[in-house]
Amino acid sequence: MALFPSPSLLLLLLFFHFLRGNAAKCHPDDEAGLLGFKSGITEDPSGILTSWKAGTDCCTWNGITCLVGNRVTALSLYAQTDNPNSYLTGSISPSLSKLRYLDGIYFHNLQNITGLFPKLLFNLPRLLFVYIENCKLYGRLPANIDRLSQLDALSLEGNLFSGPIPASISKLTHLTQLNLGGNLFSGQIPLGISQLKNLTMLRLDRSLLLGKIPDFFSSFPVLAILSLSYNGFSGEIPPSISALAPQLIYLELDHNKLTGKIPDFLGRFKALDTLNLSWNGFSGVVPKSFSNLTKIFNLDLSHNDLVDPFPEMYVKGIESLDLSYNHFHLGKIPTWVTSSSIIYSLKLAGCGLKFKLDDWKPSQTYFYDYIDISDNEISGSPVGLLNSTDYLVGFWAARNQLKFNMENLIFPKEQTLKYLDLSRNLISGKIPSSVSGLQKLNVSYNHLCGQIPASKFSAEAFFGNDCLCGSPLPACKI
Ligand SMILES: *[C@@H]1O[C@H](CO)[C@@H](O)[C@H](O)[C@H]1NC(C)=O
Ligand SMILES: *[C@@H]1O[C@H](CO)[C@@H](O)[C@H](O)[C@H]1NC(C)=O
Ligand SMILES: *[C@@H]1O[C@H](CO)[C@@H](O)[C@H](O)[C@H]1NC(C)=O
Ligand SMILES: *[C@@H]1O[C@H](CO)[C@@H](O)[C@H](O)[C@H]1NC(C)=O
Ligand SMILES: *[C@@H]1O[C@H](CO)[C@@H](O)[C@H](O)[C@H]1NC(C)=O
Ligand SMILES: *[C@@H]1O[C@H](CO)[C@@H](O)[C@H](O)[C@H]1NC(C)=O
Repeated sequence: MALFPSPSLLLLLLFFHFLRGNAAKCHPDDEAGLLGFKSGITEDPSGILTSWKAGTDCCTWNGITCLVGNRVTALSLYAQTDNPNSYLTGSISPSLSKLRYLDGIYFHNLQNITGLFPKLLFNLPRLLFVYIENCKLYGRLPANIDRLSQLDALSLEGNLFSGPIPASISKLTHLTQLNLGGNLFSGQIPLGISQLKNLTMLRLDRSLLLGKIPDFFSSFPVLAILSLSYNGFSGEIPPSISALAPQLIYLELDHNKLTGKIPDFLGRFKALDTLNLSWNGFSGVVPKSFSNLTKIFNLDLSHNDLVDPFPEMYVKGIESLDLSYNHFHLGKIPTWVTSSSIIYSLKLAGCGLKFKLDDWKPSQTYFYDYIDISDNEISGSPVGLLNSTDYLVGFWAARNQLKFNMENLIFPKEQTLKYLDLSRNLISGKIPSSVSGLQKLNVSYNHLCGQIPASKFSAEAFFGNDCLCGSPLPACKI
């Protein structure tokens, strides 16, 4: 009777065996696929793949996630941009197609991973998320990229892909994110992208795209992030962008060849957080409707041909503002800027500012990192301002009428200052020794005098003063 274990005990034993087997080892296909990938990596100086050892459970390896039993579902490998030692060198082995349950590939900053578009992706039926960013893949995207029609997100940002964006991308209708930024794509934006109605993010920035921006934006009811920066787009902002008013958060069209007026309708973009139209050929006035952009945090309209008057804004607090190098005559720094309690970057170079710097009393200076007020007619002294900042990193005030004794200059409390340009002003006195801690300095064309403190700056930084002497200028006469 007790010779054989009862059937239920047998089941229990089997069950435990199954559990243990499960925990001890990933599926052999997945292990083989991953080891195949590893053998395609020729250099791994920081040991990202050190834990990838045959015979150990691949679900425990660095970068591996198993969510369906013992099957690998995600592969995430990251390197630090600032640490070249953490890059991987090699190519993406086709053996990854053995990972039948893979739903996400996340490669970031692997920098030295090269090769053509990995067609093995076509053989992964469950794949939903592809992020192969900042690697060195090159060549054209395959014309049959629509074989990835199940994808939810595709990012190939920061590679070397070239040629046109294939028209068949229009078949990837489940996409919520499409990021092809930072490549060498050329030609126009395929109109078929308007089929991707579920996009929340569309980034085609930093490539060689040109032509007009298609007027197809009424097709994107949930688009929140749109970046077309750093391309060769020309023509005007298409009217259909107005359809994005309820939900758009980021709009970046900077560094193109766009012309015409900034459309009134942008003032209706209630959710807009960042608007970057810099380095284009926009002309005319900034629409009055901008006063309704009460939530804008980052506004960059610099390097265009915009003219006065600049509208009064009712923004709750701007974080970064750049209006430099248009044709504005602002006179004073606007009160909606001075009163911002969160501003960290203020750039109003060449904005027709004409006031005494001592009179400018920003309501907060704690967060300020950057202030650029070059090329204006600002008089007085920055001593009080710099003394009141805690963490200022850069102060540019070249080509103004600042008149003060440089010996009185007190650097920001936390010694964060790296860039200081006070060239072409009316500054007198000696250069304080505290400048030696800066990365960049320019005090040329002022009325400075006396011995230059020991520093690494070239003579150019000191040219055109009354009587500066000592290295890198000729020695002082004692
Ligand atoms: C990246 O690849 C280049 C060329 O193959 C090589 O010279 C360089 O050492 C590699 N960098 C790293 C960090 O492996
Ligand atoms: C778009 O998103 C909606 C809501 O999430 C979803 O029901 C629909 O199936 C999606 N369409 C496509 C083509 O994926
Ligand atoms: C701001 O928005 C309100 C409400 O939508 C509107 O009535 C007003 O005309 C707008 N202001 C400007 C200057 O466009
Ligand atoms: C606008 O784009 C320029 C160039 O990419 C960048 O330096 C700047 O920070 C951007 N401005 C904002 C407000 O994001
Ligand atoms: C610099 O700031 C300190 C503390 O806020 C203040 O006591 C001092 O008078 C200021 N010095 C100058 C020259 O503004
Ligand atoms: C210093 O400033 C002068 C005048 O603004 C400019 O011409 C020169 O190029 C600058 N030099 C450096 C090294 O930045």
